[in-house]
Amino acid sequence: MEIIIQPDSQQASLMAARIVGRLVKEKPHAVVGFATGNSPLQLYKNLVRMHREEGLDFSGVTTFNLDEYVGVPPVHPSSFHSYMWAHLFSQLNIPNNRIHIPDGLAADIPAVCRNYEQSIKSAGGIDVQILGIGTNGHLGFNEPSSSLYSRTRIKTLTEETRLNNSAAFGGQDNVPLHVITIGLGTILESRMALLLAFGKKKARAIAMTVEGPLAASVPSTVLQLHPRAVIVLDRDAASELKMADYYSWVYEHKPDWQKY
Ligand code: GLP
Repeated sequence: MEIIIQPDSQQASLMAARIVGRLVKEKPHAVVGFATGNSPLQLYKNLVRMHREEGLDFSGVTTFNLDEYVGVPPVHPSSFHSYMWAHLFSQLNIPNNRIHIPDGLAADIPAVCRNYEQSIKSAGGIDVQILGIGTNGHLGFNEPSSSLYSRTRIKTLTEETRLNNSAAFGGQDNVPLHVITIGLGTILESRMALLLAFGKKKARAIAMTVEGPLAASVPSTVLQLHPRAVIVLDRDAASELKMADYYSWVYEHKPDWQKY
């Protein structure tokens, strides 16, 4: 794991945008895994700016989103479909047929999940998987006790996650119980996992992810098994890391060609 601590979320997001931007430049047919939530918002703003001002071309890019609520129509303002179109897809030139988000309205959910995995494979696998983290260490919607080798499937949300997402649905009771999420095994197969976490609220989850034991009860610890996990934090999210000074020292002493 590479742990990069930046002074604030803006600088951290700019670094993440450079990583994604460089990938898209070097590999025009890159496959990018996108996440929702607050954490990647500034990254997405930077990608839109790079597209507008620097001509970063997304016309060959294929995308797969992490997750979606079951039973929530794509046009619902709190669906992850709406989020992605509002913050990113309406402002980039990714062809519609290359955009994939799980279909939360599907009658046959297991078939949708199988097809999603198959589509990722057919696209050549995910080059970079952007991730946020839940306060309980979930990735996507892989809640505690998710198998570390799980694939795309239906999951039931914890009360903690429903509380954290209650504002979007006007109260915890209105937050759907079920979701479709790609699995931890799916995330493990991405060529790079790029996790963003900001603020004190995430400090405990980050400390467990990086320095805790590997455990299905903290799903994000699966990143300890990932061949290339890059974890970009602001100072607050890094505040409970025992070895924070060491991680910063390592990043400072990387050869220039390895820096982001
Ligand atoms: C939701 C999403 C996750 C996201 C998490 C944290 O549960 N399914 O993908 O990482 O929220 O969201 P935020 O970045 O807003 O803290």
